[in-house]
Amino acid sequence: MRPPESDAGTGIVPVTTGADEVPEDTVVRDLLQEAPPRLPPWLGYDAVGSELFEQITELPTYYLTRVERALLQHHAWEIAEALGCGRIAELGSGSAKKTRLLLERCVRLRRTTYLPIDVDRDMLRSSAATLRSELEDVEVLGLWGRYEAALEWLRTHTGEPLAIIFLGSSFGNATRAERDGLLGEIARCLKPGEAFLLSADLDKDGEALETCYNDPPGHSAFADFRLNYLTRLNERYGAEFVLDDFVPKACYDAATSTVEGRLQARADRTVAIPGLGITLRVPRGRFINVGYSVKFDERGLAHEVGAHGFVPRSQWVDHQARYGLFLFHRDAS
Ligand SMILES: C[S@@+](CC[C@H](N)C(=O)[O-])C[C@H]1O[C@@H](n2cnc3c(N)ncnc32)[C@H](O)[C@@H]1O
Repeated sequence: MRPPESDAGTGIVPVTTGADEVPEDTVVRDLLQEAPPRLPPWLGYDAVGSELFEQITELPTYYLTRVERALLQHHAWEIAEALGCGRIAELGSGSAKKTRLLLERCVRLRRTTYLPIDVDRDMLRSSAATLRSELEDVEVLGLWGRYEAALEWLRTHTGEPLAIIFLGSSFGNATRAERDGLLGEIARCLKPGEAFLLSADLDKDGEALETCYNDPPGHSAFADFRLNYLTRLNERYGAEFVLDDFVPKACYDAATSTVEGRLQARADRTVAIPGLGITLRVPRGRFINVGYSVKFDERGLAHEVGAHGFVPRSQWVDHQARYGLFLFHRDAS
């Protein structure tokens, strides 16, 4: 995923935690050996996956992006003031189309450097180029790599007051243990009083969620996005998954308030993955997990984030859609 080529001159810095970083292949192998097998969210975002995700955001049934955009549009000034920083780092920035709404206000309040973080280098390059051309006063430095490496880079490259933002409800794509790890890393990057803004989808009717996370008639963006994970395994690790052998779908589990993206086997399947040195067996009807989307309740979220040294400061919630932006400040501990 990350060739050793230099990105000098493009305003993109490759980030790595060096010897401590768990290699990508190890992460993928370990997750495929869990029960049920799963794949890390970042594996799905190559050029094809990122483009498919953009298509998902435009599906008539996918409310998350529209609601978040409207919240940012209506409250951009207030949020920009509350962030109170000269540097904004965004985890999983993607196209950064919504972030622009915030940046154009921030830059009118103070000199602003934007540090988008993403594993998809092409997306990072193009979103950075678009922002530079549209918002001349914003300095953009893209951090190319996984969250942990980018957060370590931020810890060692200090400067103007920093805010970390995490939009697109991507926080909910991680398990509780992964979220705890990430929150600890984020807290270690911020000084007392600095801001952490995240968006979260709040729990709601399971049928509505399954409608949102499956393709409406006449569309295939979700199905193609989920199947792209198998294409990635074929390309990167020489696996021989036949895409038609798996049915992509999303199922809601009320017990864990989680929508799960699944690739369900139509028949017993045994697939060698030579590049990882493993063989994956998926019996008929069983599935490979290609993504969690955890749904939160407001109190639980405040408690979860608060456990890592954050104090809730403000929130902007669409109560009808049950989706919100939640602002925390790092406490003095
Ligand atoms: C669900 S998309 C959200 C994009 C954008 N924030 C939005 O709201 O439209 C998630 C983005 O995070 C990136 N991503 C996922 N996991 C990542 C990781 N562990 N480290 C860095 N980037 C990651 C993906 O490449 C993708 O661009």
